[in-house]
Amino acid sequence: MKYNFDEIIERRGSGCFKWDSNEDPNVLAMWVADMDFRVAEPIIDALNERTEHGIFGYSLQMDSFYEAITGWFERRHGWTIDRDWVSHCPGIVPALHFFAKTFVKPGEKIMMQSPVYYPFFGSAKKNNIDVEYNELIYKDGRYEIDFDDFERIAKDPKVKMFYLCSPHNPGGRIWTKEELERMGRICTDNGVLVIADEIHCDLVYPGHKNTAYGTLADDIVNNSIICIAPSKTFNVAGLQTSCLIIKNSDLKKKYDEFLATLGIMRPSAYGITGLTAAYAHGDDWLDQLLVYLNENLDYLRNYLKTYMPKIKMMEPDATYLIWLDFRELNVDSKEFHEILLKKGKVWLDEGYMFGEVGEGFERINIACPRSVLEVGLNRMRDALIAENLI
Ligand SMILES: Cc1ncc(COP(=O)(O)O)c(C=O)c1O
Repeated sequence: MKYNFDEIIERRGSGCFKWDSNEDPNVLAMWVADMDFRVAEPIIDALNERTEHGIFGYSLQMDSFYEAITGWFERRHGWTIDRDWVSHCPGIVPALHFFAKTFVKPGEKIMMQSPVYYPFFGSAKKNNIDVEYNELIYKDGRYEIDFDDFERIAKDPKVKMFYLCSPHNPGGRIWTKEELERMGRICTDNGVLVIADEIHCDLVYPGHKNTAYGTLADDIVNNSIICIAPSKTFNVAGLQTSCLIIKNSDLKKKYDEFLATLGIMRPSAYGITGLTAAYAHGDDWLDQLLVYLNENLDYLRNYLKTYMPKIKMMEPDATYLIWLDFRELNVDSKEFHEILLKKGKVWLDEGYMFGEVGEGFERINIACPRSVLEVGLNRMRDALIAENLI
C-alpha cells in the first residue's frame, strides 16, 4: 500500500510529550525525537486485533516475537542474532541507567563521545558515575573520532564502560566498519565494556550503509551489549519496548539478574504486539518513510542555502535529527534559542544540552509532513530577519 506521509494528524491534546509540553498552543514542536507520521498499517491492525481480543492479563513473548527480531536484523542488517541473546528493557534510556548501576561502581567512569544525546551523560551523573568525554572533531562539516584521545581514555583503569551512539545523535554520522572495529578493539583490549546504542540504525539515507556492531569480530561482540528498538524506526516509542542483544552469557546473566532485582519481567501486551508486527511486517512502510525523509532533508538543505545560508546543516548519513550550525551568526546560544521559541514559535533542541561542544548548534527534527517543515522553516527565517541576524 502507498502511505501518505503528508497527512497532518493533530497530536496536541493526545498526551503527547512533544506537542503538549509547551503551554503556548501556537508553538511548532520540532524537538523530541519521535515522528508526526501515522504508524504503519500492519502495526495498527495488530494492536487493534489485540484490543479486540479483550483480555489484558500478564503477557509473554511468544516465538513470533523473537522470530520478528531475528528476521529483521538478518534481513536488513545481515546480522544473525540467536534468540537466547535477547534481553528485555523498557527503553534504551532506562537501560543506560541500569548499566550504570550494574557494570560500574562509584569512583569508576564511563566514556562517551561529545556532543551526544544528553541521557548518555545524564544516566551516568544521576548514578554518581563520572564521565570522560572523547570530544568529536568537527572537520569539513562532519564529526570525526579523535582516536589518540579515545585510546588515552580507554587506558584509564577507572574507565569501565563506553556508551557508543551508532548512528550518532546529534551528528547523524554512521561510523564506518573500520571506525567501529578500531573503537571496539581498543575497548576490548583495555577491559572497557561497550554499550552500542543502535536505536537509529534503520533510519539511513540513500547511499549509506550502517554496520551493525554485532557483525564485528567475535571477541569484540562478546565485550558488548547492543541496544535495539522499534521505537525510532516505527514511531512506537510510547509502547516502551526495547531489547538488548547480549551474546556474552556471563554479561547477560548479570544484566538479567539486575533486572530481576527491579522486579521488571516482561514487556506489556501492546509492546510485544507492536514490536512483533513492526519487525515482521514493517519493511514496506519503512522503505517509503526513508524516501520521504530524504526528500525532507533535500527540502531543508535547499531552504537553508536559499534563505539562511549562514546556518550550516551537518550532512547526516542517518537519523531524522539534523544538527544545525549557526556559529556564523555570532549570537549567544541561549538568545538564539529564545528567539526561535518566543519570536518564531518553533521549538528545536538546544545544542548545548548535548554537551558544551554543542554551543552554537540547534537540533531540528524533520520527521514531520513537509508542509509542517515548511512552516517551521519560514518561522525561523522570519524571526531571524526580524532580529537582523540574517
Ligand atoms: C541515541 C538514542 N538513544 C535512546 C533514545 C531513547 O530511547 P528510549 O525511548 O528507548 O528510552 C533516543 C531518543 O531520542 C536516542 O536518540
